[in-house]
Amino acid sequence: MQEVKILGIETSCDETAASIVKNGKDIMSNVVNSQIKIHQAFGGVVPEVASRRHIENIALVVDTAFKEAGLSYEDIDAVAVTNRPGLIGALLVGVSFAKGFAYGLNKPLIAVNHLYGHIYANFLEHSDIRFPAVCLVVSGGHTSLLVMKGTEEYELIGETLDDAAGEAFDKVARFMNLGYPGGPAIQKAAEKGQAGKYSLPRVFLDRDDFDFSFSGLKTAAMNLWNKLNRKGEADVYDMAAEFQAALVEVLAEKTVRAAKKYNAQSVMLAGGVAANSELRRVVKQKADKLGLPLYYPSLKLCTDNAAMIAGSAYHRYLKQDFAPLNLNAYATMSIL
Ligand code: KG4
Ligand code: ZN
Repeated sequence: MQEVKILGIETSCDETAASIVKNGKDIMSNVVNSQIKIHQAFGGVVPEVASRRHIENIALVVDTAFKEAGLSYEDIDAVAVTNRPGLIGALLVGVSFAKGFAYGLNKPLIAVNHLYGHIYANFLEHSDIRFPAVCLVVSGGHTSLLVMKGTEEYELIGETLDDAAGEAFDKVARFMNLGYPGGPAIQKAAEKGQAGKYSLPRVFLDRDDFDFSFSGLKTAAMNLWNKLNRKGEADVYDMAAEFQAALVEVLAEKTVRAAKKYNAQSVMLAGGVAANSELRRVVKQKADKLGLPLYYPSLKLCTDNAAMIAGSAYHRYLKQDFAPLNLNAYATMSIL
């Protein structure tokens, strides 16, 4: 079998990442330079700061990916890069670098949708996923439910009408002074609290569709938090637990309802919020009841990385589905 080694580059948000993946499966290196510590001081990602850090880091990150893989530049067969969706300035750093790198080495360029990369992280680690599968993609910028008919074939059946799940975690953590990124901080606080002591809405749970809305939940959480603080009754752990439970219940229930409706053979989670242990636990519990296997990437591959970008480009390489050197970056782009 021909060996295809693809360099993946990812700079859509606050991680400068490069990875080399062989045949869409074997991760030869996976380098992630996180800017979290820099953005923490601001309580969230500052786009212009992110772009500047990417510029400073990208050459070293890519070089390290080659060193870790034990390869020289000429050994790769193609350069894959995230060109949508994400912070435009941040994306442009990766896209420009990838174009120059591909041109200099005379290798083909492959443009990858970041959200598809998140889904593909599952295929990097699991080879027994049966189709159709229902996949919940939950990240800092997106919340979508998809029916996967194959590794490359999918249909969007629902999405958030306002905030993304990760965004809700981040914003709620911010007003609760739990720090950035909010998802892991709320998860940690929730472990010490109890859901149900306070009451937050399960938004859209009663709707017979697969759309989500988290903006109202965020506002309800903020109002409740302010009220509790005024009364001197605010418990950060119980509040974190109730918020997480309210968000997770809707995500999990709708995912499993979709699995039933579309006769899915498997259930998948993808994106940064798929790292959430409560989401994993509740979806597993519900999927077990239907006798369906649940798949999610390991923690390192849930949040932003370039292995998912390099891996997902493999089938595109085989089809010679290459991008031109005038490839652009796009801040907003649906998963389809
Ligand atoms: O996929 P990702 O790394 O970047 C985007 O594509 O947006 O996702 C980042 C999001 C952030 O909102 C972060 O708070 C959330 O994923 N996240 C979590 C957890 N780890 C990361 N949310 C809940 N629980 C976690 N353990
Ligand atoms: Zn992401």
